[in-house]
Amino acid sequence: MSVKIAPSILSADFGRLREEVETVLNAGADMIHVDVMDGHFVPNISIGVPVVASLARFVKAPLDVHLMIENPEKYVNAFADSMGRGVDGENRDVSSDYIVVHAEACGGDGGFGLGSTEALIECLKSIKSRGIKAGFSVKPGTAIELYEGALEYTDIVLVMTVEPGFGGQKFMEDMMGKVKWLAEKKAVSSVENGGNLEYEIEVDGGVNAETAKVCRDAGAEVFVAGSYVFGAEDYKVAIDSLRL
Ligand code: DX5
Ligand code: ZN
Repeated sequence: MSVKIAPSILSADFGRLREEVETVLNAGADMIHVDVMDGHFVPNISIGVPVVASLARFVKAPLDVHLMIENPEKYVNAFADSMGRGVDGENRDVSSDYIVVHAEACGGDGGFGLGSTEALIECLKSIKSRGIKAGFSVKPGTAIELYEGALEYTDIVLVMTVEPGFGGQKFMEDMMGKVKWLAEKKAVSSVENGGNLEYEIEVDGGVNAETAKVCRDAGAEVFVAGSYVFGAEDYKVAIDSLRL
């Protein structure tokens, strides 16, 4: 099975961000994972639209923007705009990019209830309307089954394997049940419903060479790794080890 590796720049040296990103792409990264945190949905603040806009000006590889923020629906257009502007104001192709929201965070801004499947579906639709792949994530304490109704609207599901907010935490192996459930649903859909579920399965948190194997065995296809890649002496060695 071919897998995708998405280094998380949360663990990069932000003083040399462009160099870090170029190095990791040259080392074979498939996409760049960008962790956006608001200090409300998670107890940490990281980066936002201006940094995504700067990345978009030179990154041609897919951007994987992980929004750990409340009311993500309010910010979809701002992120989509920034991702769509390349160098010298030229349009950048966003069709391979992702915006991933947290299911728990959608809908607090009126309309549908906070954390409802309906609110999540609306949010996914608004991302797709911008030509960007849409995804959702769940925190470790959130049951994935709650959002079964959103699966046919999503291009990717991100299973958090740590509590979102910080890099460098320990992998939670008990999240593999969610990965297996998602893989099973997808397999059944391709046999019974002509493949109406076509999402990729992504894992994020505590991923290293050893835990990546566990995730792959469970059915994960996209691997986010922050500290393991950016903490390594040789990014290529680290990335290659995640594919083994
Ligand atoms: C955590 C973030 C992760 C983080 C992963 O909230 O979503 O993407 O950067 O870091 P590691 O790989 O160090 O656990
Ligand atoms: Zn992340």
